[in-house]
Amino acid sequence: MVTIDGPGGSGKGTVSQLLAARLAWHYLDSGALYRAVGLAARERGVSFEDGAALARLAAAADVRFEPQADGQPARVWLDGRDISEILRTEETGCLASRVAQVAAVRGALLGKQRDFRRLPGLVTDGRDMGTTVFPDAVLKVFLTASPEVRAERRYKQLKEKGLDVTISGLLGEIRERDARDAARQASPLRPAADAEMFDTSGLDIVQVVEHIYRQLQQRL
Ligand code: DC
Repeated sequence: MVTIDGPGGSGKGTVSQLLAARLAWHYLDSGALYRAVGLAARERGVSFEDGAALARLAAAADVRFEPQADGQPARVWLDGRDISEILRTEETGCLASRVAQVAAVRGALLGKQRDFRRLPGLVTDGRDMGTTVFPDAVLKVFLTASPEVRAERRYKQLKEKGLDVTISGLLGEIRERDARDAARQASPLRPAADAEMFDTSGLDIVQVVEHIYRQLQQRL
């Protein structure tokens, strides 16, 4: 088990997927679960103030990942519907960040996340994978990057998907989401005491993966 936590745009998704592919291990994008719950809440008109209703929604949500053969990100299904495209928008990220503040939602997703653990191993990314969900991981990594670098990465990713975004708009959303994720009481965004820290601002993602891979080999 390897956990890779960090804020949005720190490179954790790309690093985790490349590392999982290199190890031939499984991969869990825990943010997708929060995004799916955020979407479900908005679509069903559940109030973001109603923690108990949000937690019921999280417990009932059937989220499935359909791995793609060509190295493309897995497609994501919520209750039998393909939500892969809408899942990645900044707007969905904000909905996710709001439901993620609710302790009962986090509790409802805990078991679901742990169910992804299977042989030969799991690489998972999120905010609290190393601190709360998989505290016994053999290697915990925490990635950071400056807000400006993260906004630029997000801009490239979203533009490639044809979405209409601006760097300044993304920077504002990133700062707002960071503040909310770090300030919440339930499992805030913070590195585990025994996490390896990396600032990926000036680094090539392939180098980061290589470094983590070598660290893991020393521990296995
Ligand atoms: O990694 P992401 O951008 O897909 O995550 C979307 C939101 O979900 C993020 O703002 C905070 C929340 N989240 C969380 O609280 N805990 C996780 N393990 C993963 C995501």
